[in-house]
Amino acid sequence: MPLDIIVGAQWGDEGKGRMVDLLAAKADYVARFNGGDNAGHTVTVKDNTFKLHVVPSGIIHPHTISVIGNGVVLNPRTLLEEITTLLDAGVEVTPQRLRISHAAHLITPAHRALDSAQEAARGKDAIGTTMRGIGPAYTDKVARRGLRVGQMLDINTFEQSIHHHTENINRLLVEYYRTEPIDSHTITEEFVGYAKQLRPHIGDVSADLYNALSSGKRVLAEGAQGTLLDLDHGTYPFVTSSNPIAAGALSGLGIGIKHVGRIIGITKAFQTRVGAGPFPSEVAGKHAERLRGSGENPWDEYGTTTGRPRRVGWLDLVLLRYAVRINGFTELALTKLDILSGFDSQKLCKGYQAGGQHY
Ligand code: IMP
Repeated sequence: MPLDIIVGAQWGDEGKGRMVDLLAAKADYVARFNGGDNAGHTVTVKDNTFKLHVVPSGIIHPHTISVIGNGVVLNPRTLLEEITTLLDAGVEVTPQRLRISHAAHLITPAHRALDSAQEAARGKDAIGTTMRGIGPAYTDKVARRGLRVGQMLDINTFEQSIHHHTENINRLLVEYYRTEPIDSHTITEEFVGYAKQLRPHIGDVSADLYNALSSGKRVLAEGAQGTLLDLDHGTYPFVTSSNPIAAGALSGLGIGIKHVGRIIGITKAFQTRVGAGPFPSEVAGKHAERLRGSGENPWDEYGTTTGRPRRVGWLDLVLLRYAVRINGFTELALTKLDILSGFDSQKLCKGYQAGGQHY
C-alpha cells in the first residue's frame, strides 16, 4: 500500500490537522516529517480539546502508530508535556504507539535563546519567527554539530554533548549578541532526565516504515507549515528552515519515492500568513476583520503556537498553481469556504502585473 502525503499549499495553517484526522481513520501510521514545535493544531478527544505541536494528530486514533521522522527538530520538553496531556485525557501513548527517529535533531533552550537574540539583532528585517529555536536547531544540523535524538541512548556521552552545546551557544549569546547566558548545568540535568523518559520511543523509523509499507500497511505523512514557507522553494528569506513540500516527506522520513500514492494539497479558500514577508493579495480594513474573525472562536485566524493575529488576504491562484507544480499534488482540499459566506464582494488573484510583464 502506498504512502499518502498531506502538504500545506500556502504559508501554513491551511487546516491540515483536520484532513489528517479524517484520513488517519484509515491509516496504520501517521508520520510527521518536518518542522518542530513551531507548528500547532487543535485536537478534540471526547470533551477535551488541546493544542498539539509535536505529536502527530493521528495519536488520537487508537489503531494508529505515530511517528516523528528524521526531518523533524524535536523539543523534548514540549513533547513530554503533550504526552502528559494526552495520558491525562485517556489517550494511550506507549513506546509502541509513539516512535521517534534516532536521526531527528533536538531543540534545546539554547536554540530558543539564540532564535530570540538573532531576531532582535535583525531589527526591522526580522523574519517574525515563532521563537521556538527552529532556525538555530536546523543550522546546527546542517553545520554537522547538531544533537541527534539517538545520542540520548548513551546517557554519559549525551550529558557531555549537551553541556558542550549549551556552553558553545552561551559564548555566542554573551560575546556576540551581548545578551544573558542560559544555565547550562540546569539544562544538562533537565535533558538527561528527558533522555531517560524518551529512550523507549527511539528507533529506526525509516526501517519500520519500509517494513510497514512492504507488508501492505498504510502510512500517512503529515507535513507542518506550508509550501510557501519551504526553505528552498518558499518566499526566502521569509521562510522556515525545513522542507514542508511533498519531497520533504521522503527525505524527512527516509522512504523511497516508489511508495508514494496520493499527494494531497490543503489550501484555504483565502490566504493567511503569520510573520513577515511578501503577501501580494493581502487585505486590510473591514474585509480583513471578517476573514480573520474576532479571536473568540477556535477557527479564527490567530496563531495556535504564538497567538499572533494572522495577516489575511484573498486566495492567490498564482501561488496555488505554483504549489501544485512544486508538489505534484494529485488532489486539493479546500478548507474554510464557509468563512466567505455573506461577503458582498470577494476577490481572487489570478495574475500579477509587474514591470510591464503579466504573470
Ligand atoms: P520559524 O519556523 O519559527 O523559524 O519561523 C519562520 C517563519 O515561518 C515565520 O514567518 C513564522 O511565522 C512561520 N511559521 C512557522 N511555523 C508556522 C506554522 O505552523 N504556521 C504558520 N506559519 C509558521
